[in-house]
Amino acid sequence: MKQTLKKTNPGSAVKLNLCEADIQSLRRQLIRWFSAAKRNLPWRQHRDPYAIWLSEVMLQQTQVKTVIPYYNKFLTRFPDIRSLARADIAEVLTLWAGLGYYRRAHQLHAAARDILNHHGGVMPSEFDRLLSLPGFGPYTAGAVASIAFGQRVPAVDGNVLRVMTRLLADGRDIHQPAVQRDLRRTAETWVPPRRTGDFNQALMELGATICTPRNPICTRCPLGSICRARRKGDPAQFPRRTPTVDRRTLYLAAIAVTDGSGKLFMAQRRSPGLWAGLWELPSVTTPGPDAPHVREVIKLAAEHHGIHLTAVRRVTDIVHILTHRHITVWIYQGRAAGSGRKRGRPAPPPTPTDYAATCWTAHPDALPLSVLAEKQLAALRAAEADIPAAGCAGRGQE
Ligand code: ADE
Repeated sequence: MKQTLKKTNPGSAVKLNLCEADIQSLRRQLIRWFSAAKRNLPWRQHRDPYAIWLSEVMLQQTQVKTVIPYYNKFLTRFPDIRSLARADIAEVLTLWAGLGYYRRAHQLHAAARDILNHHGGVMPSEFDRLLSLPGFGPYTAGAVASIAFGQRVPAVDGNVLRVMTRLLADGRDIHQPAVQRDLRRTAETWVPPRRTGDFNQALMELGATICTPRNPICTRCPLGSICRARRKGDPAQFPRRTPTVDRRTLYLAAIAVTDGSGKLFMAQRRSPGLWAGLWELPSVTTPGPDAPHVREVIKLAAEHHGIHLTAVRRVTDIVHILTHRHITVWIYQGRAAGSGRKRGRPAPPPTPTDYAATCWTAHPDALPLSVLAEKQLAALRAAEADIPAAGCAGRGQE
């Protein structure tokens, strides 16, 4: 096997690629393997560009088995671009609840509106036009253009990057945007003139099922004969590992405020920002690392949320880890001043300050919740605090 070394421009890094014969072999072997081994997935049953787009958005950062029920439910409620574009974002978020990364739902909705308003409700088929829609990066535009419209463009996601670094024994850091761009250019030379969608999906499928991060099953790989990492004897050393993420530590006090009629006070986060549009227990950041005294919580709740509390006590605490954050949450419970069981009347609405909206509800789980908020409610119930029981089907994210 020869290695093609092409200069991109004078002075820039040498570009790594397979030789022409290996590219031909790659196309042939991969498509043959995919035809026989591909998983039977709902979005592979038809070529509706909207359904393919939806699946690609849902599959970002999320496993296939998690996506399937959400995909089916979403398509039943919003069967086409028009119905999605005309929907209220709150309903879209409710259907998305539990899938994570809510920004995807916001952008899906915005792009559907854009397509309705500027493309007559018809999904554009060209890569460049797709790229101009909200939420479309090179991956999503490439996936939709190739799978739904047969355009000859690559679709390079994390799985494909891993497969590529192994085929090429490329030791560069794939977290570097310049390396990603370079590999995307290399992938352009790999996409065959026909069956582009199958080829791109085959690379992703190989990454998801055979060429997995830790224990690749090289004995079942259709590309074993051209894989340079396999020849070196340790394919799992590619892609190069980056040092573990430096997570910021955050300390929060979350307050479960109940009124006299069995309702819980919930708050919706502002957009943009972390957990935009999602609902949670009103929270305040605290300096940490020790849990704040109840007096401090009462003061912070009044300052930040206009909520005046009585009977405050600390109930439980949880830890939540995101890619770049390590969050400790101390959970308190209190009663809104002016409410009470004896009187049996709800408290007056507090003045929202840090939030987009607030509400009193007997069914907090029916709101689109962050996974953190979901955890908080579960922890409260586990601590048998006096909050409304889970009833409705809402699930959270992140
Ligand atoms: N991951 C994301 N999209 C995919 C697809 N269409 N096939 C296989 N894996 C995927």
